[in-house]
Amino acid sequence: MSSLTIHASSHDYEVIIEEGIRHELLNYIASDYRKVLVITDDKVSNIYLDDVVRGLGKELDVHTSIVPSGESSKSMRQYERLLDACVEVQLDRHSLILALGGGMIGDLVGFVASTYLRGIDFIQMPTTILAHDSSVGGKVAINHLKGKNLIGSFYNPVKVIYDTETLFTLPAEEIRSGYGEVIKHAFLSSEEWCSNLLQVSLDNISSEQIKDDLMKGIKVKAGIVESDEREKGIRRYLNLGHTLAHAVESELGYGKITHGEAVGIGLWFALRVSQRKLDASLPVDRYRDWLKSNHYPFDILKDLEVDTLLKRMKWDKKTVHQKINYVLLNQIGTPCVVELSDQEIQTDLNLFIKEVRAT
Ligand SMILES: NC(=O)c1ccc[n+]([C@@H]2O[C@H](COP(=O)([O-])OP(=O)(O)OC[C@H]3O[C@@H](n4cnc5c(N)ncnc54)[C@H](O)[C@@H]3O)[C@@H](O)[C@H]2O)c1
Ligand SMILES: [Zn+2]
Repeated sequence: MSSLTIHASSHDYEVIIEEGIRHELLNYIASDYRKVLVITDDKVSNIYLDDVVRGLGKELDVHTSIVPSGESSKSMRQYERLLDACVEVQLDRHSLILALGGGMIGDLVGFVASTYLRGIDFIQMPTTILAHDSSVGGKVAINHLKGKNLIGSFYNPVKVIYDTETLFTLPAEEIRSGYGEVIKHAFLSSEEWCSNLLQVSLDNISSEQIKDDLMKGIKVKAGIVESDEREKGIRRYLNLGHTLAHAVESELGYGKITHGEAVGIGLWFALRVSQRKLDASLPVDRYRDWLKSNHYPFDILKDLEVDTLLKRMKWDKKTVHQKINYVLLNQIGTPCVVELSDQEIQTDLNLFIKEVRAT
């Protein structure tokens, strides 16, 4: 078992990573809860809900609620439905909500837990690789028709319990998606970890490697959010690769590409810009080859227009006064925020799209 304590301003909480831990959940949950509501999505419920309910034992009063899988469930409608479920099963301050699923479930359920009775305890049980990123740091949210994560709060779980055995049922694109954020954490922190990852083939990655990468990724994220919980300064570094990723996701329409795959591609762009603007020495060609050999879907960028992407990037919420603040790398492990002019971005994007078309 690997574990790590995260120091949030509200409380410390533990992240536990272990294969098969869902079968013995009760051992990891404080004994004073009377009632538990497990919330999950309809894909995850088919595979893991029975195990989790059994893992909670017979003594607890356990209830379940299931939402449709997919980003569209991070909605007012499902939020309201889940609050109804909380009221119906009469959750009180001695109750616990368990969020079983990927980042969608973590964000939605965390937001329910943060507002029901002005906040009751919740535990994150991530079932995707990407959720190593979303389950720590305390950001919980639902989407508004006008934009992602517009309604939310900062609310930390009382624990994160990661059963890595559940990751083996993930489809290939969700493994790529998770590794988009993993490799971002590697570029933010360690040359050695980066070169190790650049030799990994996601088609036959070992369980040991996944466990190791999740723990490393969580450590990087925790280190950053512990010193800047509310994104006033260095938490912005976690947006490495995200400005282009968000533009691509919204231009293609959500669901056409997974978030982490878009981040993986956005990171390629950020590395190229870092080379040009900061003269940074970075393994960009090796990274591009890694994306290609692991089938990141950058083909869909080939038809996108530079001007439209630029417009989308300027609408991204990290834009201050219409200039684009870009997270770049001076070198691996040394991020910085640089303001780029439209002209610069346009030139870089043109070169980048050309490179994508030629790859
Ligand atoms: N709060 C944060 O800091 C933060 C950070 C990054 C991302 N996010 C949010 O996370 C969400 C994306 O998370 P995600 O990529 O985990 O998506 P997701 O939760 O939608 O899961 C992706 C797909 O995989 C399925 N799935 C989940 N676990 C599975 C398993 N073990 N086996 C088989 N299928 C499984 C789901 O049903 C879904 O279809 C977005 O809403 C994003 O905004 C939040
Ligand atoms: Zn992300």
